[in-house]
Amino acid sequence: MKIRLILPVLAFFMAGTISAAGADGIRKTESSEDREMDRFISALMRKMTLEEKVGQMVQIPANFTTGPAVRTGNYIKAIEEGRVGSMLNVEGVAATRKYQELAMKSRLRIPLIFGKDVIHGYRTGFPIPLAEASSFDMEVIERAARCAAREASAAGIHWTFAPMVDVGWDARWGRVMEGAGEDPFYGAAVARARVKGFQGEDLSDTATVLSCIKHFAGYGAVIAGKEYNSVDMSMGQFANFYMLPYKAGVEAGAATVMTAFNDFNSVPCTVNGDLLRGLLKDSWGFDGFTVSDYASLGEVVNHRCAVDRKDAARQGVMAGLDMEMSTGCYADFLVELVRDGSVPEKFVDDAVRRVLEQNRLGLFEDPFRYCNEERERTVIGSAKSREDALYVAERSIVLLENENNFLPLSPDIRKVALVGPLSKSRYDMCGMWSCADQSRVVTLYDAMMERGVDVLYSDGYDLGTGELKDTSLTMSYARQADAVVVTIGERAENSGEMRCRGDISIAQEQQALVSMLAASGKPVVVLLMCGRPVIFNEAREAAASVLCTWWLGSESGNAICNVLWGDYNPSGKLPMTFPLHNGQIPLYYQQKSTGRPESSGWWHSRYQDIPNGPAYPFGYGLSYTTFEYSAPELLSGDGEDIHAKVKVCVRNTGKYAGEEVVQLYVRDDVASVTRPVKELKGFRKIALGPGEVAEVVFDITDSQLGFYDERLEYIVEPGRFTLMTGGDSVHLRSVDFTL
Ligand code: BGC
Repeated sequence: MKIRLILPVLAFFMAGTISAAGADGIRKTESSEDREMDRFISALMRKMTLEEKVGQMVQIPANFTTGPAVRTGNYIKAIEEGRVGSMLNVEGVAATRKYQELAMKSRLRIPLIFGKDVIHGYRTGFPIPLAEASSFDMEVIERAARCAAREASAAGIHWTFAPMVDVGWDARWGRVMEGAGEDPFYGAAVARARVKGFQGEDLSDTATVLSCIKHFAGYGAVIAGKEYNSVDMSMGQFANFYMLPYKAGVEAGAATVMTAFNDFNSVPCTVNGDLLRGLLKDSWGFDGFTVSDYASLGEVVNHRCAVDRKDAARQGVMAGLDMEMSTGCYADFLVELVRDGSVPEKFVDDAVRRVLEQNRLGLFEDPFRYCNEERERTVIGSAKSREDALYVAERSIVLLENENNFLPLSPDIRKVALVGPLSKSRYDMCGMWSCADQSRVVTLYDAMMERGVDVLYSDGYDLGTGELKDTSLTMSYARQADAVVVTIGERAENSGEMRCRGDISIAQEQQALVSMLAASGKPVVVLLMCGRPVIFNEAREAAASVLCTWWLGSESGNAICNVLWGDYNPSGKLPMTFPLHNGQIPLYYQQKSTGRPESSGWWHSRYQDIPNGPAYPFGYGLSYTTFEYSAPELLSGDGEDIHAKVKVCVRNTGKYAGEEVVQLYVRDDVASVTRPVKELKGFRKIALGPGEVAEVVFDITDSQLGFYDERLEYIVEPGRFTLMTGGDSVHLRSVDFTL
């Protein structure tokens, strides 16, 4: 078999160390596009003392922390003396102005950069990122990030620590709520859209913020789905399943990259020179700056890879970590390390230049340009933001079950038994990492009342203890109503950082409640509110219809009502597999072929007590209408980069207008290494009226056919491929293609 190698990427990984590979990951300033800025920064750096340079590499928290408490010392004095480059968690025009004024007292008047985790909307809360990713619509995703940037920048914030682009296969890991799910190809598309949304076309536009690709690298693969745990994987596994979203975010122009808490190839990412100087800066040409995760540089001591904080500081700067978040290792030791010759000053200079270049924000011209009270008052929580939040929330909902087309609710249904305290909880609709103004969240109960629905509301269970309550009242409401809608799921604090779970099942009491309600004889609509894939087998079997609404933010109630009554026909698809049992986790669709597939008979790869298949597969989601797919047809390519094209016709065969995500999966039938049984390599969201047909054509190029080897070389092997199209990762029709 002939092998074509393209894109040789990474010699230094094999060489082991940066110096051995001869690459120092230091950017060549002469290659800078903006010569004027370059000259300005060079002149400024000539005036800076070593202490002032190191100051630019220091980020300190204020007001509150998002991790273990850290020592910040007298930070007011430090800012006034030019020994702080950035602050996190300062927000609002008044507060940012106050700290910026302190920075303006420093000798060189270098402005502070204010960073914050603006993860899904700012004061106007948007769906959690995993929910937004269910839209499979890049315009939706970009719009959400743009609105978050507009509001956050109006509150004086310059930099968001988003997007998190870690691929996650393990639903026990609480942080899957912050990502785009389990697929690297899809994750890369989402990463690009989010970076574009946050940063816009031009960072000097005050409605944009710097973005931050995190957590570099491989954080989604923490062993056993446990926060802050180790990661262990081969380079081939990393390159083929985890790397693309980081690379895509960098290529989209992300200004910053955050290191991960975990180790990678046995070296903590925060001090991993192969990753930071090697792969990121040298190989990918990343020209922004890197920042550690919260306190992760000091934590290298806990990893037992540094003797003390000073040693951690030395390793960090040598590895290419440009700014340190929170533990003060750089602030305390970097000047000394340069003076005693342990760290060449060129590494500090490179880091400082990268940070100062964020002058793209225009802060040197006017350090207060993000401090505009009028803008803060009018932009934050504006009607435009609410409109965007509703648009995105509607498109984040996934219809999982719809027996006898019970949904949309017919207009005659006016009396609804609404059960479950999540229906009234503003707090829980915001999810974790929320900056939203909870007082302005529209709950489902609010929205139904506003719509004029005759609501018979009962809690049914206690949100705190989980125990069932008011059971006879709940059942009598169910009997009186035309329909029963019950909200079950997780609380906001059940998914997110430090919210890992060994059991991702929905509480037994909540599921029993659904069964009880179904026994009333009324069709029951289950609304699943959660921040990760969950297991709810009893409830989904008892329900007539199930909508996965995730946590949708400020417009939750309105979006859900619009979907319940069919004002918006749900179009979301799952970006992560929903397992049937905890024991299946990690469960993901792009598994590799084993030596004993199902066709091998009894001795095949499986469990004794649970099936292999999921409750709902990746890419799955129903609509109020139905779509019929033709068999895919192979067309010839252009004789150059496009090897072939695949055409599929999709017809709306139902009564409603609707949107469908047409998906393309590829299998390399025989390869020199084991390959997944299928991999998503294309998707297109289309809108069709009843009876309409759309023709969707996907190009087949090298980028869909190849794989990375252990040396990170991209390889395309000639041979036969199976190309599959359909509306989810299971229900597919295929055509062969030979390269
Ligand atoms: C998280 C990061 C976050 C940082 C700052 C850390 O605990 O892992 O994602 O950006 O805190 O809040």
